[in-house]
Amino acid sequence: MFPEALSFKDVLLVPQRSGIRTRRDADVSGRFSTGIALKTPLVSANMDTVTESATAIAMARLGGLGIVHRFLTIGEEVGEVLKVKRAENIVIDSPYVVRRSDTVAEARRVMRECEVGGLLVVDGAGRLEGVVTDRDVRFVEDGTLPVRRVMSTQLVTARPGVPLEAARRLLGRHKIEKLPLVDKGGKLKGLITAKDILKRQRFPDASKDRRGHLLVGAAVGVIGDYLERARALQDAGADVLVMDVAHGHAEHAIAALRRIKKACPSAEVVAGNVATYAGARDLVRAGADGVKVGVGPGATCSTRVVSGHGVPQLSAVLDCARLTRTTGVPICADGGIRDSGDLAKALAAGASCAMIGSLFAGTDESPGWTIVREGMRYKVYRGMASLGATLGRRQKEGARLPDNDEVSEVVPEGVESMVPYRGRIAEVVHQLVGGLRSGLSYSGARDLKSFQRKAKFVRITAAGWAESIPRKGVIS
Ligand code: XMP
Repeated sequence: MFPEALSFKDVLLVPQRSGIRTRRDADVSGRFSTGIALKTPLVSANMDTVTESATAIAMARLGGLGIVHRFLTIGEEVGEVLKVKRAENIVIDSPYVVRRSDTVAEARRVMRECEVGGLLVVDGAGRLEGVVTDRDVRFVEDGTLPVRRVMSTQLVTARPGVPLEAARRLLGRHKIEKLPLVDKGGKLKGLITAKDILKRQRFPDASKDRRGHLLVGAAVGVIGDYLERARALQDAGADVLVMDVAHGHAEHAIAALRRIKKACPSAEVVAGNVATYAGARDLVRAGADGVKVGVGPGATCSTRVVSGHGVPQLSAVLDCARLTRTTGVPICADGGIRDSGDLAKALAAGASCAMIGSLFAGTDESPGWTIVREGMRYKVYRGMASLGATLGRRQKEGARLPDNDEVSEVVPEGVESMVPYRGRIAEVVHQLVGGLRSGLSYSGARDLKSFQRKAKFVRITAAGWAESIPRKGVIS
């Protein structure tokens, strides 16, 4: 008859003899693409109710990654990427500056617009002359006063290339917030801030590029402005482009991937979505640096109901992961993760990371408002192929909103829903990663590679699953 396909709740992992004494010994580092390693193998979905800059910043600080969705104008999506890239630095190469003759009102405006608490003052040749902070201007009533009247000129500086530890000591010893870097001629060459150093200490696992900026990904489509968008996102510093299409194994999607790789040859591109080895293989042949696996498992997906197509997610991951073993290109299990047990099974089956939508949609960082219903807090979560998201995208593209007849012509493959409010994303990530570490320890695995080698699945019945979940209410 037909081949069988299974999903997460059809199986369990068999506990094995384990030398892991504490969960902390389990290393869960994974990979999103050949060039993007993650200490936390979790990626927030490119959905308009999941990832804009706030989610992406939080995810990268926690060692994961956020993918900014594409239902934005190119300028807006670029803006979200820039916010992430500017959120943290080792050295700020081009600090915000003013001139000594500029007014206090002008300095206040720059600080407000650039969301910084201080500016460096330079002369026409770029030589550092002083520092003006919000404290210097806070109570100045006459906004026409020149900056030179309020700036501090007692400066502590360092040379470019100063070791971070030496910079930290200087900031501490002089109780200052900003350490400008100047060359022998006194020219301003960069800035190190106390804030950035503290963030480094607070988030030691953060996903960062070579210059100390947080990693971020951004989605592009496969029709319309996608090449222009891909170039703009790459120029803005996006570390990975994610080709966002429901059926990634379509010839036009493969052709679009080739064009993106040609237009942005140095960009990492993760392509998808596919549900078969053949699909993953064809995307890798077309240049994909990572493949997203999942057709229809997501919490808001109706693709399987509408089109009758899809592959239960565990089998899809097992099938596609054969490609990682032969080519080294990682796959990302996208959709259907409801708890940390599903995450453990997806990674044991061969995924190098997982993409999450619904579990992150209810957090403080996700875009959108909190709703209160009968005393419970919720946030809106909608599929990107839902009617609401589709109409929203068309509106962004400048199209007129369709009338009722045209609306009924749209065939949505996703639904609009609500998810419980879950607090800060860090708490959700903590629970998922804690469960995953526990999963590694039950299999006696120290890292994901050995987890995938050792993992033994058993197929279970509905009674087996019913036995597995805690019983609700009063237990009789
Ligand atoms: P979870 O289960 O984590 O899944 O909420 C997130 C993933 O769902 C996919 N997605 C969709 N799939 N119709 C679909 O068939 C949709 O409208 C839709 N929106 C999102 C996507 O892969 C996401 O990462």
